[in-house]
Amino acid sequence: MNRKPSFLHMAMNFVLVLLALLASWIISFYITKAAYSAMAWTPHDLLSLLINAVLGFCFFGIGIAIVSKYFRPREHYFLNDMLEALRRISNGDFRINLEWEFGRNNEQQRHPYVQLVDSINSMAANLKEMEELRQEFISNVSHEIGSPLTSISGFAKALKDDKLNVEQRHRYLTIIETECIRLSKLSDNLLKLAVLDSDRRPFHPTAYRLDKQLVSLILACEPQWEEKKIDMSVEADEVEISADEDLMSQVWLNLIHNGIKFTPEGGKITIFLTRTEDHAVVRIADTGSGIDEQDHGRIFERFYKADKARARTVGGSGLGLSIVHKIMELHRGSIAVSSKLGEGTEFTVSLPLHLEGAEA
Ligand SMILES: Nc1ncnc2c1ncn2[C@@H]1O[C@H](COP(=O)(O)OP(=O)(O)OP(=O)(O)O)[C@@H](O)[C@H]1O
Ligand SMILES: [Mg+2]
Repeated sequence: MNRKPSFLHMAMNFVLVLLALLASWIISFYITKAAYSAMAWTPHDLLSLLINAVLGFCFFGIGIAIVSKYFRPREHYFLNDMLEALRRISNGDFRINLEWEFGRNNEQQRHPYVQLVDSINSMAANLKEMEELRQEFISNVSHEIGSPLTSISGFAKALKDDKLNVEQRHRYLTIIETECIRLSKLSDNLLKLAVLDSDRRPFHPTAYRLDKQLVSLILACEPQWEEKKIDMSVEADEVEISADEDLMSQVWLNLIHNGIKFTPEGGKITIFLTRTEDHAVVRIADTGSGIDEQDHGRIFERFYKADKARARTVGGSGLGLSIVHKIMELHRGSIAVSSKLGEGTEFTVSLPLHLEGAEA
């Protein structure tokens, strides 16, 4: 639609109204004149003028009503399509793609209707994407819960057999215990993600020594890396950062646990901490199974496991790195992976030393 300058628009409207009034009065003049002569009646001049004026205004009103009904700007008809689209969105149908049929030059692009059409299309696209993510999330959760439950119920049933010897009984019970731990870890991670996604997430940055935190977490994990005879070493400069200490513990624990989990017995994990002018840089390198290059971009997605067969044997639901990623986002930091299948993995975490303007 071409938008004329407003003064020209107003002048045109004024002239049109004037012409319409004139036409209405002329029509009413001839109609009343014909009526008077038919009735052989000659009213007083003032009365005739009043009748003419009132009748003229009535014709004018009727004319305007007809014109506005049949000659509305065509964009008005488009309102129905928009209302129908909004109705469909509110009913959960997000397959909307409204087409604007009236051209899109620079001026038309700013027209409120064009902007409304674009907003409705992008709202429908975003809602569709969110709905797909929600469905994918539910199907992933159901799958992750379903397989341990099947295993637990199968082995619990098998345990009812009186002929089982103590060794078999013990083996089945160990499997049930492992699956229960897997389920409880899954629910724990889901809860952590839900809290991190919500507005109620805890985020209390304080200044603390990152090198001390790393060393104490490595010592806390000693039973796990000792059990696999992994050579664990740390080279850390003294670095003080301001960050949420609990959330950052979660980051290091998830990365160290991955290192231990995906490194075979007798392997090596090295943790480096250095500082640049305004960042603390932590590198966690292992000599484990490595990650195929085509999976590098996806391992931070929820439920993504690069090697599904291995993940089944070593356990895990593919949530650890997505939690790490979310916590890094909150801290305005970054995480990158460098790895080759069969040659080990190195995660590099870069954290701003100070958290000005960080999300609170
Ligand atoms: N250090 C590593 N070495 C090899 N592969 C890794 C390493 N860290 C992560 N991965 C790959 O990335 C995937 C995602 O890791 P993530 O920590 O999110 O999940 P997970 O360890 O499988 O399960 P969870 O952490 O929920 O227990 C893993 O399944 C694995 O394939
Ligand atoms: Mg993990």
